[in-house]
Amino acid sequence: MCRKKKLVFLTGAGISVESGLPTFSGGFIGQYRIEDVASIDGWRKNPELVTRFYNERRMQLCGVEPNAAHRIVAGLENDFDVTVITQNVDNLHERAGSTKILHLHGELTKVRSSRHADMVFDIGYRPIEVGEQAPDGSPLRPHVVWFGEPVTLIAAAQSIVAAADVFVIVGSALTVYPAAELVKSASTKAAIYFINPDDVKHTGCDMTIIREKATTGLEKFKTILYQTPEETPKTISADGKTNIFNIVILDQSGSMGSIKQEAINGYNETLQTIKAAQIEHVETQNHFVTLVVFNGSSTKMVYDRVACAEAAELNNETYRPDANTPLYDAMGSTLTNFRQKLDTTTDNRILVTIITDGQENASKEYTGQHIRKIVDELKGLGWVFTYIGANHDVEAAADRMGIVNKMKFEATSSGTKEMFYKKNMSRKRFYDIVAQKSEYVDGKFFDEDDANS
Ligand code: OAD
Repeated sequence: MCRKKKLVFLTGAGISVESGLPTFSGGFIGQYRIEDVASIDGWRKNPELVTRFYNERRMQLCGVEPNAAHRIVAGLENDFDVTVITQNVDNLHERAGSTKILHLHGELTKVRSSRHADMVFDIGYRPIEVGEQAPDGSPLRPHVVWFGEPVTLIAAAQSIVAAADVFVIVGSALTVYPAAELVKSASTKAAIYFINPDDVKHTGCDMTIIREKATTGLEKFKTILYQTPEETPKTISADGKTNIFNIVILDQSGSMGSIKQEAINGYNETLQTIKAAQIEHVETQNHFVTLVVFNGSSTKMVYDRVACAEAAELNNETYRPDANTPLYDAMGSTLTNFRQKLDTTTDNRILVTIITDGQENASKEYTGQHIRKIVDELKGLGWVFTYIGANHDVEAAADRMGIVNKMKFEATSSGTKEMFYKKNMSRKRFYDIVAQKSEYVDGKFFDEDDANS
């Protein structure tokens, strides 16, 4: 029995906006000052004011309901191992049916002793009287983490995020620490999503941005999520969408070492381009990724036909240039295997991209003629091939293999960056052409002028 994927949400005040609760930065504090009502100093100075503030918040909470975003998160528990880490003190996740919730900043419907933090009481929506005492004789205080107080659950939250297969940040400005840095605990294999209608400056690690409100954003996220690798494409395209299989065959020979970081960044940008297209064309396209890295030691299938949401980024561990360049063997084995597995009863587009900084020089199984024959046959089935090379006669090498879309690049830092930029712009153009159901003319994948420069 395969384990359920671990889906972890970090939610902020934004997820409760469509329930009628203001965001923290946009009204939660209302006419009060943060330092007066949301800090330990404020409590010490004026417990009456703070008690009144949270009584009002509790009353406000009593008058609202969870919205579709809370319900989507709860509903995903049917198919995924879902944990919600929330910065919110409201109980809307619980009321929507979520079962695994960690309240980083406390809970509005609870109070606790001012002396013993673990002496906590659930009071529902009732107001507490100023001076009401806990059993230890200390005044009851809201069970909320105020500025100036430690976030005691942060370590638990970090380990939950570290175990996530998919991490989704919904409705948070990521301005309050340490919650704002939780994303840094995510594993490099995790797919990360950021749902927020506003252009929020975030920690810069790679994530797929869904610029939408929580409800519509989570709907889009859900659509992407359910494109799991277990489901064969056959079933998915039953929904009338086009399956786009992105095959990237990336040279990992020793000479690539000089542009290793650029190659890693470039590939990861390609992944971002694919994920962005998945979001943009979510109604008409399903994007899958196959990544093969090759050199004289091995032709390694890093992953095959995974939904783009699941495709992990390359890093210094997964990309290690070494040895020589058996390009034909890498292409021959990859294309033949892929063809055998492909369900041709569905509407598929296959885009093959070969990136190499050198001439074929080490293949044992496949020759140039073999590859030419395979490429011609597959082009006959509508597959699109792009050949991107450096440090050799790219034109001639591509022609030998029958590939008409070719681009030469300088195997320098700037040359490689420029190449990936142009390549990804062309890739986006191709997806748009497919989405518009307009006719794609082979040979025009890269803008002609650029290709021969
Ligand atoms: P903020 O108010 O700082 O950020 C809310 C975010 O939600 C903003 O980025 C908005 O753009 C976004 N947003 C607005 N409407 C939205 C919608 N319909 N759907 C999705 N997003 C929307 O709140 P937080 O990031 O949660 O603790 O941080 C505030 C935390 O700091 C709170 O937990 C608070 C404080 O410590 C307590 O209240 C105890």
